[in-house]
Amino acid sequence: DHPGLIDTFGRVATDLRVSLTDRCNLRCTYCMPAEGLDWLPGEQVLTDDELVRLMRIAVELLGVTDIRLTGGEPLLRAGLEDIVGRVKSLTPRPRISMTTNGIGLAKRATGLAAAGLDRINVSLDTVDRARFEEITRRDRLPHVLAGLAAARDAGLNPVKINSVLMRGLNERDALPLLRFCLAEGYHLRFIEQMPLDAQHGWNRGDMITAAEILTMLGEEFELSPFPVARGGAPAERWLVDGGPGDVGVIASVTRPFCSSCERTRLTADGAVRSCLFSNDETDLRALVRAGARDEEVADAWRATMWGKLAGHEINEAGFAQPIRPMSAIGG
Ligand code: GTP
Ligand code: 5AD
Ligand code: SF4
Repeated sequence: DHPGLIDTFGRVATDLRVSLTDRCNLRCTYCMPAEGLDWLPGEQVLTDDELVRLMRIAVELLGVTDIRLTGGEPLLRAGLEDIVGRVKSLTPRPRISMTTNGIGLAKRATGLAAAGLDRINVSLDTVDRARFEEITRRDRLPHVLAGLAAARDAGLNPVKINSVLMRGLNERDALPLLRFCLAEGYHLRFIEQMPLDAQHGWNRGDMITAAEILTMLGEEFELSPFPVARGGAPAERWLVDGGPGDVGVIASVTRPFCSSCERTRLTADGAVRSCLFSNDETDLRALVRAGARDEEVADAWRATMWGKLAGHEINEAGFAQPIRPMSAIGG
């Protein structure tokens, strides 16, 4: 009997990703349709108290050490700063990070850092304003750039940037993105596109692979092995031109990292998932609303993680995309 979130392959999940809302104020074409999705009705979304209780159980009883707040867009969650503050007060204090599109961050970075947010990852697929609008269907690039600068100035460290590259769309933005990040001190990671869009439009041929990305970057920059071991992190990293700048690639499809996965996930409506790609969910909200004790909730969480599969099987014949889209799982 392991006290924590161990699975049959011996992996232990210490990293919790929590989706605070399934809503978003962008409409990235690789994520959702222009009209948006059928958002969760309010009563199905965990309340602040329910959410904080589940995070407390994860930290106190299940050995979670790192909590990442995601969405949809987590900045749309009312009371976000308050939630961060309550998570910071848990014992032992978890490291707290957030993955956001950066809109509205300019005004809130200082308050979030003061509340206890340690670091931040911002999604940005281009530094070209017209192409930003083409990809996200919103003309908001300046807001994101202001948010990034505010995050850095507020002492959130590191500030990372996530870029999904798509063939014929923004592959030409890879080098400008890297130049921008090196100049500003942000840590850029390119992400292979995964089959997680609500429209089920993913196609392997449109995905820019890690190998292609490295070739493109190699035309201008010299990449050398990153001196620190990767551990359970999704990104493989390289030093750029000898450092200190670096660049990463998250090659979920061509170089899967499932065997070292340390993640467990909680959706905005209170379901625990053992994997981004698993449809096997456990409804913790129902347990909580039925009055379950902490240990009962913890046991249900352990049981879900025990059933975690070896990997995502994107590369296997017969792979079926998960029912919930990316924006409802939290990435
Ligand atoms: P760091 O702790 O900063 O490395 O964060 P992260 O890269 O784990 O989180 P982030 O939210 O920035 O996600 C970046 C990309 O990694 C997104 O495309 C995620 O969907 C992807 N990602 C995160 N966790 C997993 C995972 O368990 N499996 C797969 N296949 N992709 C993941
Ligand atoms: N494949 C890979 N990454 C994706 N993201 C959104 N959709 C996909 C996808 N289909 C990225 C976003 C964000 C992170 C949480 O996941 O750009 O940075
Ligand atoms: Fe919103 Fe993120 Fe989806 Fe873009 S990828 S629409 S920012 S949830």
